[in-house]
Amino acid sequence: MTKINVDSIGIIGAGPGGLAALYEFLHTNKDGSSTSGGAQAADPAFSKIVAFEQKAEAGGIWTPASVQADLPVPPQHILDSEEYQSPEVVRPRVDPPTGIEGASIDSPVVETVGKHGNELEWSRSGIFPNLFTNIPARFTRYSFMPDEDKYHDKSRKIYPFLHHQELSQRFSNFIEQEQLNKYIRFNTTVEKVEKNDAGKWVVSAKRKNGDKNEWYQEEFDAIVVSNGHYTVPHIPKIPGLAEFNKKHPGVLIHAKSFRGTDEFKDKNVLVVGGSISTANVLQYIVPVAKKTVNSKRGRHYVFEFINDALVSEGITPKGQITKIDPESGEVHFEDGTTDVFEKILFSTGYHYHYPFLADHFKLVNPGNLSRVDGLYLHTFNQADPTLGSAGIAVSQLNFHTIEASAAALAGVWSGAKTLPTVQEQKDWERKDVEEKGDSIFFHYYSHRDAKEKFVDKLAPYFPEGRANPLARDQQYVGEIDEGLEYLKDLFYGLKDKSIKVEETILA
Ligand SMILES: Cc1cc2nc3c(=O)[nH]c(=O)nc-3n(C[C@H](O)[C@H](O)[C@H](O)COP(=O)(O)OP(=O)(O)OC[C@H]3O[C@@H](n4cnc5c(N)ncnc54)[C@H](O)[C@@H]3O)c2cc1C
Ligand SMILES: NC(=O)c1ccc[n+]([C@@H]2O[C@H](COP(=O)([O-])OP(=O)(O)OC[C@H]3O[C@@H](n4cnc5c(N)ncnc54)[C@H](OP(=O)(O)O)[C@@H]3O)[C@@H](O)[C@H]2O)c1
Repeated sequence: MTKINVDSIGIIGAGPGGLAALYEFLHTNKDGSSTSGGAQAADPAFSKIVAFEQKAEAGGIWTPASVQADLPVPPQHILDSEEYQSPEVVRPRVDPPTGIEGASIDSPVVETVGKHGNELEWSRSGIFPNLFTNIPARFTRYSFMPDEDKYHDKSRKIYPFLHHQELSQRFSNFIEQEQLNKYIRFNTTVEKVEKNDAGKWVVSAKRKNGDKNEWYQEEFDAIVVSNGHYTVPHIPKIPGLAEFNKKHPGVLIHAKSFRGTDEFKDKNVLVVGGSISTANVLQYIVPVAKKTVNSKRGRHYVFEFINDALVSEGITPKGQITKIDPESGEVHFEDGTTDVFEKILFSTGYHYHYPFLADHFKLVNPGNLSRVDGLYLHTFNQADPTLGSAGIAVSQLNFHTIEASAAALAGVWSGAKTLPTVQEQKDWERKDVEEKGDSIFFHYYSHRDAKEKFVDKLAPYFPEGRANPLARDQQYVGEIDEGLEYLKDLFYGLKDKSIKVEETILA
């Protein structure tokens, strides 16, 4: 493939994915050399870099102020559509207003915010005050960040993990040190990205300013999609659920909006799901609830201990829900039994979703197990390689895999490296889909495989001199397995109250 000529870049989202991309672009010189780990490039490859962030702060789900939650479930009019399991319905596309063509940041089109405000952006974080990470401290950082000794202290109650505020602090320090905020447009949501006749990407952005939305357009040579995929909640379609919510408001809640146990105290609680969020909320809910039931459909394959944890003392296991009777409030399970709950929490995952793109990043089988079609190494859009992404791969080493995507984008877009032919890119995707499945598992790399099967494959596209993110840290991946033992102990300890919640949070 021929060299790509990129001068200006727009980044959608300033979470770990967008920040990694920003960092790489600022550390790439015109001659294609990398200064990663050192000072920013003296002769930068890109003259304009703008990150659009819909929240007031950078850091993605790890932004410091995460106490305010999104709506517990989609509003009633969305549930009534009976299509609430679809990302397109839960987070609808928003058309820019007429007159936006030619509107600029200094002269935007101003609109009064509508009845539902901006609540369907689902922009608040899923992190709650007690949350600690489930990946050891060494791996919840980019390779060029310090790996502070204090987090290797085994006497810490949450060793080897970080309290979420500690991870936020890592990001705050990084943002400050690299002075990244000056490249970020806060409170600004990207609602549309399309290519114009001149071959430029046109971003339609919406800046939120009190009860007004200020819309404008801006052109870029290349776009990084780094909007995360734990933002738009997935609620499975269940007969009777919409009507039940109308008749019994306040019972349903998605794990994204879980902030603490007060609303579960002394209640009959149902937690739906069988994955990481499920175990995570159960360790706090079981000790306070009157009765806790878990409904799940399959095994969990990444954190094996979860399968035993979900049938442990204090949790009544059930199969899938078949329907909810809106009148009586009875939940029907596949084994024919019924029960009534005062609180039903859906820890049923999230959607990949790109409402701002009409023609690219199509989803295969939308739902919590969907995959994104047409990306080479989960990073380069095959149809147009000036559209890329950081953060689509799924791994316990996700900070390192994000870093690898960001570095490869910098290498190719600076002209230092060229991609293989589109046919070769498609062959790679087809082969991996055949091997791993046409679902989210296509994007998944275990901590044992992530280097060889993902990071090393992106490394040839890095700028000159850019180190492999796992060159040093790979030798420690065993810590992820050890971490699972600690995570398991924390689960049982919190659940049986031998560990107090207060011991796991920052003083
Ligand atoms: C509850 C929970 C706990 C987790 N715990 C861990 C953990 O312990 N360890 C770990 O490694 N990973 C964990 N993860 C995974 C986590 O998502 C990653 O660590 C990381 O945040 C991914 O970074 P990202 O930039 O891809 O996405 P995000 O962090 O989601 O950032 C995306 C950013 O894009 C912004 N955005 C979205 N759409 C738009 C738009 N249209 N316009 C402008 N801005 C937009 C969002 O506001 C957000 O700031 C957890 C996830 C969840 C949900
Ligand atoms: N730091 C932490 O401690 C922490 C806490 C919470 C979350 N997280 C992170 O957040 C991310 C998301 O995890 P998650 O657990 O929220 O999502 P997830 O891994 O996608 O799990 C979703 C769960 O919902 C189930 N589900 C989906 N549709 C269902 C249906 N129709 N009926 C019954 N069950 C259904 C799935 O079952 P199937 O498997 O059968 O599809 C799965 O068990 C992960 O990266 C995780 O590491 C981290």
